[in-house]
Amino acid sequence: MDSKALFERAQEVIPGGVNSPVRAFNAVGGTPIYVARGAGARMWTVEGQELIDFCGSWGPLILGHARPEVVEAVIRAASNGSSFGINTEAEVEFAELLCELIPSMDMVRLVSSGTEAVMTALRLARGFTSRRKIIKFDGCYHGHADYLLVSAGSGLLTGGMTSSAGVSPSAVAEVLVPPYNDLDAVRAIMAEEGDDVAAIIVEPVAGNMGLVPPAEGFLQGLRDVADECGALLIFDEVINGFRLGATTYGAQCGVTPDLTCLGKIIGGGMPIGAVGGREEVMKSLAPLGPVYQAGTLSGNPVAVAAGHMTLSLLRDENPYSAIEAKGRRISEEVTAAAKAKDVAMHCPHLGGMFTPFFTEGPVTDLASAKCCDTKAHAVFFHNMLDRGFYLPPSQFEVGFVSAAHTDDDITAFIAAAVESL
Ligand SMILES: Cc1ncc(COP(=O)(O)O)c(C=O)c1O
Repeated sequence: MDSKALFERAQEVIPGGVNSPVRAFNAVGGTPIYVARGAGARMWTVEGQELIDFCGSWGPLILGHARPEVVEAVIRAASNGSSFGINTEAEVEFAELLCELIPSMDMVRLVSSGTEAVMTALRLARGFTSRRKIIKFDGCYHGHADYLLVSAGSGLLTGGMTSSAGVSPSAVAEVLVPPYNDLDAVRAIMAEEGDDVAAIIVEPVAGNMGLVPPAEGFLQGLRDVADECGALLIFDEVINGFRLGATTYGAQCGVTPDLTCLGKIIGGGMPIGAVGGREEVMKSLAPLGPVYQAGTLSGNPVAVAAGHMTLSLLRDENPYSAIEAKGRRISEEVTAAAKAKDVAMHCPHLGGMFTPFFTEGPVTDLASAKCCDTKAHAVFFHNMLDRGFYLPPSQFEVGFVSAAHTDDDITAFIAAAVESL
């Protein structure tokens, strides 16, 4: 069965034919692909087309598809029982590893997705501070909890929506939304609302309006403002965590958040999330404290095994400078080719994260991201797909180089990108 036929079948039984909206290719048009299998940097569609994958399951697969050690860890764990809903030694070891690799993490609670990690962090912040309001930046995406579907990026932005039906206005009334990288806007909000702000939540490197790194001093400024007002600072590192080093971006940039949310890479391709941070705050979680949070599959042994193996490999192999060099090549060579061809496009990178933005740039926030020519991006996406390269099917996402990409893969990617412009 080919992708077109599968998509038709899927639409009969799955809303829109997909289990997550951005997979529907609405932003780029055409029929979404159906993948049959993956290995290393490659995957194969049901038609047998070989693709070099620069989406990596939206970020988790920093070691590539089906890395043998991760597969073995999963099989081993699953053969011993895939879920107990009872404590295991493996979850203790995994929590110890996270706390060892992330200096700001005294304690950590495992959950099953990034969305859940963020929901837990915000409930914890509200419970700990006894305050109601939250500052969330325009264009940052933090999962699909009601009160965060406000000017959110990712699939929502792609769908041309800034919010979602079904969200009560009262749920978002307590969420204040300044532009990303705009410290003055945060200060202005805090001057008015500082006494009632429980937390500032931010993607320290934004990845859900395309790649937007923090401006010089932005994160430290947030730390200072939060401290002045008695609010907590939460880094949502669901994308950033373990992306640029075997730790968090917070640890690397020297700004210490009160809480950090993790997901994606820490599950090595299995469903997982985590929230961790200062002991005093974490001890507010049930059963120690009054903030309730629970999960049938939390600390799931199979997910923990995949995550533990992935983080151990990242720590021991340290592939980060090689990934950075590849990300830099893509950025420099693709941007130079666009310039030579007089195409309004630039491709910033940070480590292995990159976004081919179809605008002169720079992109520093959601307003500048929205200047992109999304039609030109869609043409580029399909030109790349035809040449055997899979990118995230939206302008407002991040491409990922993994440890499995070779120099030849990068050379081929750049050649295809130059042709595709
Ligand atoms: C920064 C960020 N936070 C939270 C989430 C939600 O994670 P999940 O999709 O695992 O629920 C995402 C998902 O892409 C994300 O990019």
